[in-house]
Amino acid sequence: MTEPDRQAIAGQHDHWDSILSDNPDMYGLDPSESALAASARFGEVGAVTVLELGAGQGRDTFHFVRRGFDVTALDFSHRGLASIESRADQMGAVVRCRRHDVRSPLPCADDSFDACYSHMLFCMALTTDELVALMAEVRRVLKPGGLVAYTARNTSDAHYGEGIDCGDDMWEHGGFIVHFFSPELIERLSDGFEIIDRFEFTEGGLPRRLISVTMRKT
Ligand SMILES: C[S@@+](CC[C@H](N)C(=O)[O-])C[C@H]1O[C@@H](n2cnc3c(N)ncnc32)[C@H](O)[C@@H]1O
Repeated sequence: MTEPDRQAIAGQHDHWDSILSDNPDMYGLDPSESALAASARFGEVGAVTVLELGAGQGRDTFHFVRRGFDVTALDFSHRGLASIESRADQMGAVVRCRRHDVRSPLPCADDSFDACYSHMLFCMALTTDELVALMAEVRRVLKPGGLVAYTARNTSDAHYGEGIDCGDDMWEHGGFIVHFFSPELIERLSDGFEIIDRFEFTEGGLPRRLISVTMRKT
């Protein structure tokens, strides 16, 4: 495995702040397909508290709020979180926002969430070691039997192997570093969980090719 390009990775925080600032509705206002599927699944098991990792500008956050979940939205971009807070104010909705870089331990108590949801955060500029540590943190903050539903761009995506090689299956394209998920990485991240659902889907114009994985804490 090629060593990760730490310098390129370090620039991603400022990149995301500026992208989310320049594009107020970067991914639109409608919820993603993955949020629709995850909220249905979380509802079936009676989940109430949901931790969302990499919430961006909140297109999915507000879907969970409208469905009656108690949502904590986490992102390292204060620009993204500012959009969520201002929209929550306009709606009179309650969303707990936490500014946090997921490369550090999650700022949450053990066994405190029924479910964790994350659309396209795991495939950001996170090394394999950081992803393993992050998933262990997700497991820690989930209640026993809690669910995690995450999506990530995968190695069948058109941008995989294109642009600048940042090491560790990460490639930079147009300023965005993406970690493309292989089947082996998905297996590795399932340690301590049971995979209960897994499917490929596409999103956007490219289109992005993504894997959706839902797991239960064992
Ligand atoms: C591809 S966007 C997806 C946003 C949102 N989930 C959506 O689908 O609309 C990825 C998000 O992850 C955030 N992010 C990237 N790296 C992060 C990190 N190390 N810690 C916390 N958030 C991060 C970015 O700021 C951005 O909001």
